[in-house]
This record gives sequence, C-alpha cells and structure tokens, in this order.
Amino acid sequence: MNTDPARQLNRTLSAAKKAKQDEFYTQYDDIQNEVAAYLEHDPNTFRGKVVYCNCDDPFESHFFKYFAVKFNELGLRKLITTSYDGSPIAGGELPFTEFNAGNGTHQKPKALAVELAEVKDLTGDGAAAIEDVKLFLERNPHTRTPLAGGGDFRSAECVAFLKEADIVVTNPPFSLFREYVAQLVEHDKKFLIIANKNAITYKEIFPLIKRNEVWTGVKAFSGGMWFMADYSGKYEKIVDGVKLINVPAIWFTNLDHRRRHEKLELMTMEDNLKFSKHKEIRGKAAYDRYANYDAIEVPFTDAIPSDYDGEMGVPITFLDKYNPEQFEILGSSRTLGAPMAAVAEKGSYVQGGPRFYIATGDGTYRRMYDRLVIRHRR
Ligand SMILES: C[S@@+](CC[C@H](N)C(=O)[O-])C[C@H]1O[C@@H](n2cnc3c(N)ncnc32)[C@H](O)[C@@H]1O
Repeated sequence: MNTDPARQLNRTLSAAKKAKQDEFYTQYDDIQNEVAAYLEHDPNTFRGKVVYCNCDDPFESHFFKYFAVKFNELGLRKLITTSYDGSPIAGGELPFTEFNAGNGTHQKPKALAVELAEVKDLTGDGAAAIEDVKLFLERNPHTRTPLAGGGDFRSAECVAFLKEADIVVTNPPFSLFREYVAQLVEHDKKFLIIANKNAITYKEIFPLIKRNEVWTGVKAFSGGMWFMADYSGKYEKIVDGVKLINVPAIWFTNLDHRRRHEKLELMTMEDNLKFSKHKEIRGKAAYDRYANYDAIEVPFTDAIPSDYDGEMGVPITFLDKYNPEQFEILGSSRTLGAPMAAVAEKGSYVQGGPRFYIATGDGTYRRMYDRLVIRHRR
C-alpha cells in the first residue's frame, strides 16, 4: 500500500467526493410510477414476497415509505430496510434512540435494520398509512436492529438479509454499482434498482443485458430523473422547498414488464430513405456503413429498417424500446469495433477507446458515440 501522505489525502478526498455524489434521494412518485408498471403487467409481482431495500434509511427513504404504505395492497410478506453508518438523513423524521448507540470507529448515526412483517391501522382512521407505520415502529423497538457491520450492503448481516429477500428495490450508490449488481446476480435475486445510464456499457453490466438477464425499466431514458439533493453539494432547482438535481438515471431490473413485449413499428429501408422524419436519413442513397465493423449505422431507433437482415448499430437509447422477441443484441462498439490503426492512416481519425467510425468522404473518419449492435429476429 502507498504510504505517501499526499496520495493518501488525495484518496480520502476523492472517496469523500464520490460519497457526496451518491447522496441524492429518490422521490416517492418516481418509485410509485415505476412499480405501477410491473403491477399492471402482473398484479402479483410482490405478493407473498420479502422486499429488501438495502441502501435506505428506515423511515426517511421513500423506498421504505412506499413499500410500508403499500404493504397490504401489494401483499408483501415482509419489508426489510437497512441504512448506512453516518447517513445524513437518518433520524430526520423518526429519531430512533439506536442511532446514537456507541459505534466504535464508525460514524453516527449508526446503521439500522428495520423489519416490518405487518402494517395495521393503528390510528383508527380506516386506512393503514405512513402515520400507522411510524406509530408501530415507535411502539415496537424489536422491529429494529443496530448493524455492527455499518450497514454496508456487502457486510455479513446485510448479506443474510439479502438471502432472505425475494426482491431488492433501491437506488444504490452509483460509485459501487458494479459490485452492487454482481452481488445481486451472485445471489440470484430479483431486483428493481436505479442506475446511471452509463452503466449500460460497463463491461460487467452489458453482458447481462445482452443475455437478457437484466433489462431497463419502464420509465423512458429521456429527461433523466430528478432527485432530492439536500446533501449532494449541488442542486439545479428548488420545488416546494426541496432542492432537486437532474441525473441521467434509469431503472434496471429483471422483473418483467409489458413494454418489453411491445413490438416497435418500423418502416422499410426504402421508405426510411424517402420519408424519414430525420434529415440525417431522408434523401440519402443508403444508410452509412462503419469503416471498422460490418454493420449499417442507424442513428435513431425509429429509423431501424424493418426489412434489413444484417447487423445494425443503434444508439444506447434503443434499449428504451427493446423487445427481445423482436431483436437480438449482438454486442457493442466497445468490443466489436476493429482497431482503426488496422483500417486507416494515423491522423485521419480521432483516437480514443474502441468505437465505430464512419468515413466522411474527405479521407477522414468520424468517431461515433457508443453503439449497440442488433439484428432482427425472424
Ligand atoms: C443515491 S443514495 C440513495 C438513497 C435511497 N436509496 C434513495 O433512493 O432515496 C445511496 C444511499 O446508499 C447509502 N450507501 C452508501 N454506501 C453504501 C454501502 N456501501 N452500503 C449500503 N449503503 C450505502 C448512502 O448512505 C445513501 O443513503
């Protein structure tokens, strides 16, 4: 290990910066809208299931609140929620005494697990709501356990909860996303989680997408998602007193939903070249082909020709419309693109990580954004 104090300080500062970037919180409506789509597809998605939110403050996280309030409606068997040592929001609404428990070297508030096996109407107003959950937790200290392992999703205590769980639902720290997903896959869990859009092309994640073991959720990619950002160090707007930040976030899941069975309606190649609404396609003699891979370039998902049987490069946002019965994903430009050094003169193309390139016609090559390579299933 490097013991140079300057490098150590740098490491600490960059870890702190990463942690700060992870401090944004999901809004209730975003959770409710996404879950609604799975229920529409299968009303019993959560029935009889143990749901585990493993990066969430019980009570403050909206993931906790949503599943606690909907406990009976969804037919949950149990809701487990674990928080993380030093969380800035823990105890903001429900200050459990355990948060102040002695915690050795770990930061306070101490991480807690809350296990809910029932939600009843305690206030007597005719409905089991968040006030009832609050009352129940206040009256029942046995529902919570301080976590000696600090609430890290990789700690032995949290892994034991994971094993008990059927479905994991949360917005995990993006800086640990690769490890986070690897753990879910290792334990063969169902999940519905939030990710940065960039995660699609991670070398640990893309193969899961390609094999149809993981897919993107129902909410469209465009516009990103707005998160509560009181502790993230920056925000873009304030709505009703809440600081919000926009993040290019999407849902990742292995729960089925209707959108991935909907067929994308497309025009033929000839019609696209004549009538496409995109000026990049309309009026061209043919679709562009890559210089370093044998496929056509399709710059927009709705410009995929219905009658082309070869390989096609499409933007990452294609996944928003991806129906695995209609298309096969063959790979991505990150792994399929041949090195340009083998194809063109040095200086005729912009260098960088592996991507596809297109000849511009003047002896130079244009470097494309990341592309997925797909083919129609016939
Ligand atoms: C992006 S925030 C999202 C919080 C909450 N899930 C939500 O969506 O509102 C990520 C959360 O993960 C927690 N966290 C950070 N590192 C963690 C770890 N190693 N294990 C478990 N939780 C962690 C943070 O304290 C923070 O609450």
